[in-house]
Amino acid sequence: MVSRRDVIVGSLTIAAAAGVSSAVLAESTVGSNTPAENSASGKYNAGNEEKKLDIINIYDLEEEARRIVPKPQFGYISSGSGDEWTLRENIRAFDDHQIIPMYLAGVKEPDTSTVLLGTKVTTPIFIPPMAAHGLAHRRGELDTSKGASDAGALFTAQTLANNSLDEIGKAGQGPKWFQLYFTKDMGVNRELIRRAKSMGATAIVFTVDLEWAGNREADKRNGFVFPSSLPFPNVPNAPAGATLAELFTIFKRDLDFKDLEFIAKESGLPVVVKGIQSPENAKQCLDHGAAAIQVSNHGGRQLDTVPAAITSLPSIVKVVNKQVPVYLDGGIRRGVHVFKALALGADGVAVGRPILYGLALGGAQGVTSVINKLNDELRLAMKLAGCATIKDISEKYVSQ
Ligand SMILES: Cc1cc2nc3c(=O)[nH]c(=O)nc-3n(C[C@H](O)[C@H](O)[C@H](O)COP(=O)(O)O)c2cc1C
Repeated sequence: MVSRRDVIVGSLTIAAAAGVSSAVLAESTVGSNTPAENSASGKYNAGNEEKKLDIINIYDLEEEARRIVPKPQFGYISSGSGDEWTLRENIRAFDDHQIIPMYLAGVKEPDTSTVLLGTKVTTPIFIPPMAAHGLAHRRGELDTSKGASDAGALFTAQTLANNSLDEIGKAGQGPKWFQLYFTKDMGVNRELIRRAKSMGATAIVFTVDLEWAGNREADKRNGFVFPSSLPFPNVPNAPAGATLAELFTIFKRDLDFKDLEFIAKESGLPVVVKGIQSPENAKQCLDHGAAAIQVSNHGGRQLDTVPAAITSLPSIVKVVNKQVPVYLDGGIRRGVHVFKALALGADGVAVGRPILYGLALGGAQGVTSVINKLNDELRLAMKLAGCATIKDISEKYVSQ
């Protein structure tokens, strides 16, 4: 069988032999919208429907969303870095662990409610920070915020949102964290933290794995830039119509533990350090004031060939030793994935791309549909494995 990668590598080899530049090939793969504007008015268009989704399988959403999100933007959302090994491995590695059910447990109706850093939620599934929801739907983060809220799930509003934190807070009253990309300007960092608190954020998520943008080849082939008609109102001086690498010139590129300490002190809120993959690094974060660790490899979008998030989880859970909660994101597409992550010691899990696909396809209701679908699958897994509550899901229910 010839894989997609073989075809691309093959065509580049042929092009090189024929003296054709690969840039020409790259251009030929660009979708209907040139530098990211795709209508006569020059305004970016993607999803605009508001509807409940009838989801059989979360994986199906990717192909459905591909039909309505323009190619460069869809590539930005769906792709990973380099050979996309980590992107694939994030999902595959869940197969390394099997669920071990325990019967005659007297479980009637499992309860999926739990507490995330002191906040009560109806599900351990939450939404991680993802840049530019306007790429998926015209209402952007306003609908994601409402969709999460309606599902009783926690939403991480992000620095690179296309809507202001104030509007995001008003659009959905549910629990929220705020993700900070630390800028070079301390005044801006202070202002972002202030706005996050006034939005109602109960924690700051400090993303530590993106100082330089990963090697996103799909973005290069597709000529992806953030459409200038989708501003980033929370970050002053964000360049318009920029690539990810250009955009990141405004953020600090040599983050260290002093930055973590600054965020904790300035905000007075618990800080979740997101992007941790090593037990030693997790321990260092605890020593410098982290209130939680989010095990993540940025959905396979940063350093390719790092282990799957679920593979990194157990050794981090061990070293953290219940001192603070440990969360995980990367590759969650099934209720059984959520179950396995919780059984291996996670206190909650975040689901990335499927949320943006649900947003593109059905707005706020689409987001709610995705969370509900995964939570229904989790409830079923709990019932069939014999767990009545989230606390009951422990390591005895999963092979290591
Ligand atoms: C389109 C997109 C944009 C993202 N932007 C951010 C971001 O701004 N900040 C951040 O911390 N993580 C960002 N991430 C990473 C997610 O928070 C999360 O780690 C990842 O999507 C989880 O993997 P999954 O998509 O397989 O569920 C982004 C992910 C995607 C897909």
